[in-house]
Amino acid sequence: MTSQTITAAASGTWTLGDLTVNRIGFGAMRLPQTGTALVTDAVPRDRDQALAVLRRAVELGVNHIDTAAFYFSALRSANELINRALSPYPDDLVIATKVGQPRDPSGAWLPHAGPEQLRGLVEENLRQLGRDHLDVVNLRVVGTGSIAERFGVLAGLREAGLIRHLGLSNVHPHHLAEARAIAPVVCVQNMYGLGVRPDQDAFVRACGEQGVAFVPFYAIAATGRQAGASGSDHPEVLAVARAHGASPAQVRIAWTLHRGPHVLSIPGTGDLDHLASNVAAGALRLSGDEVAHLDDSVHRQDP
Ligand SMILES: NC(=O)c1ccc[n+]([C@@H]2O[C@H](COP(=O)([O-])OP(=O)(O)OC[C@H]3O[C@@H](n4cnc5c(N)ncnc54)[C@H](OP(=O)(O)O)[C@@H]3O)[C@@H](O)[C@H]2O)c1
Repeated sequence: MTSQTITAAASGTWTLGDLTVNRIGFGAMRLPQTGTALVTDAVPRDRDQALAVLRRAVELGVNHIDTAAFYFSALRSANELINRALSPYPDDLVIATKVGQPRDPSGAWLPHAGPEQLRGLVEENLRQLGRDHLDVVNLRVVGTGSIAERFGVLAGLREAGLIRHLGLSNVHPHHLAEARAIAPVVCVQNMYGLGVRPDQDAFVRACGEQGVAFVPFYAIAATGRQAGASGSDHPEVLAVARAHGASPAQVRIAWTLHRGPHVLSIPGTGDLDHLASNVAAGALRLSGDEVAHLDDSVHRQDP
């Protein structure tokens, strides 16, 4: 499929609280480095390249960018790049960030933040992004324990006006119920994609039933996770891609969007051609038979 003139508007829209976004967004994790993300020896990406990708994303209609203060390499910070490339920010741009497990200045992971550290992490994002409030903050969680105390702190920051809307990341269904009893939740951001965590299918549907956006990550990278996409794909994905004149990555993005109108895509890339192609995937419509075939042959087959 041609990607020259297709903008993110082709993917349709979803409203996070009171903020309407195109369903194709952008994930900023790939920008600070080339190759593997979130490691201490990450290779810093060319700065102008990263800035160009961000500016082009917005030109292509992307108005939902996912980021975090812990997306950085030795020389680049995703939040600082976003600030430099895009501020003063367009009125319709929604920047979602996340707090949970910080990294020290060398890039090594620190323990998960306790309730008393969360305000500082929110303020770090405000400072780096150059904003007086954050549009969406996800509490990023590991494990199954209660999140009530930490989510309660973020709910207080929302009440105080530092945060407009709250979300959750890496959570289980019981976390969503626990959080919603404290404050409204606009999105859940979990690892999910074609052949990636099929055990999440019911949770994806449940989010839709509750009017909560589901924002999958690693929809292209899949099991490559922070190392990135492998460059190879299942024959079934390749066949569907060929039938549409599309790329396997576009089929993967389109498949996630077919899981429901509440599913928002945030593909990450540092490559301008991949960016245009990912945005164009919002116009790719798979048939019911194709989705069913991919579900049976790929989604429910992978470990
Ligand atoms: N909440 C969490 O715990 C969590 C965890 C991980 C990520 N995230 C968020 O989710 C976002 C998405 O994850 P991700 O960045 O890993 O994105 P992704 O969409 O799953 O995959 C990115 C990988 O695929 C490659 N790629 C992207 N577009 C491509 C295309 N059209 N053709 C071929 N290869 C392509 C990228 O390399 P190139 O740069 O070469 O294109 C990179 O290796 C992140 O940016 C981050 O914002 C959240």
